[in-house]
Amino acid sequence: MSRYRCPCSFCCIYCTIYTIVFLFILSMFIFWLIFTPSSVKFHVTDTSLTQFNLTSNNTLFYNLKVNITVRNPNKDIVVYYRRITLIAWYKKRAFGWLSLAPFDQGRKNTTFLQAQFQGHQAIKLKPRHIAEYNEETRQGIYNNLVVDLDLAVKAKYGRIKVGRFEPPVVQCRLRVPLVTSVKSAAALFNVTRCKTGYFFVDRNQEAG
Ligand SMILES: *[C@@H]1O[C@H](CO)[C@@H](O)[C@H](O)[C@H]1NC(C)=O
Ligand SMILES: *[C@@H]1O[C@H](CO)[C@@H](O)[C@H](O)[C@H]1NC(C)=O
Ligand SMILES: *[C@@H]1O[C@H](CO)[C@@H](O)[C@H](O)[C@H]1NC(C)=O
Ligand SMILES: *[C@@H]1O[C@H](CO)[C@@H](O)[C@H](O)[C@H]1NC(C)=O
Ligand SMILES: *[C@@H]1O[C@H](CO)[C@@H](O)[C@H](O)[C@H]1NC(C)=O
Repeated sequence: MSRYRCPCSFCCIYCTIYTIVFLFILSMFIFWLIFTPSSVKFHVTDTSLTQFNLTSNNTLFYNLKVNITVRNPNKDIVVYYRRITLIAWYKKRAFGWLSLAPFDQGRKNTTFLQAQFQGHQAIKLKPRHIAEYNEETRQGIYNNLVVDLDLAVKAKYGRIKVGRFEPPVVQCRLRVPLVTSVKSAAALFNVTRCKTGYFFVDRNQEAG
């Protein structure tokens, strides 16, 4: 190769490198589009709150039932739910904990979960929140009731199995009417979609 041809071949090398990099990025993007699984979707479809009494000694007596649907929208992923812990909060204070039985979820499948929080728990609310509690009791609808799902799952992508990981905590922020004999339209529970981070990433990995 003569020295005079050098700049041209230099151009060619550049061209080739650019093309290769471009094709690589394009193929990565297509691969990502095809194989990135959609997040699992959670909805609270119904609630039944029959008791929610806060006594003067800061003890909350509660009886809350929730129906939750869990939908795996992916056609090539099986999800194995290995730990399902539900935590109930009122005004950012946790008052109820329970675990549900592990289950497997097939492709494009919806699983129906039922849970009941019942008992009493000492919770220390701020004076402002106690005032809100009293107002909400008067109206018969409680705000800032949150049910979290703390999960540990395994998954199978096509034939590839992925070990246990913890998806971001699923947060269901609810507005829950107390069940009373009086049924008004404004006091009917509305189906609520829960907030989730990207489901198929471990929450610790995502944070770090
Ligand atoms: C939840 O689902 C069950 C079964 O379909 C139903 O009987 C119940 O009324 C629903 N609601 C609550 C709050 O449990
Ligand atoms: C809670 O309040 C309801 C209605 O005000 C009442 O019927 C029930 O006895 C109370 N329960 C407790 C444990 O205070
Ligand atoms: C608060 O009062 C209830 C009855 O009203 C009682 O069952 C509970 O043990 C009390 N809790 C504390 C921490 O004293
Ligand atoms: C959902 O899962 C069940 C049990 O694994 C299975 O019988 C059913 O065919 C699945 N439904 C769909 C739509 O894949
Ligand atoms: C459900 O939605 C309706 C219409 O937006 C509203 O009037 C009602 O108060 C809601 N119910 C609750 C419990 O928030």
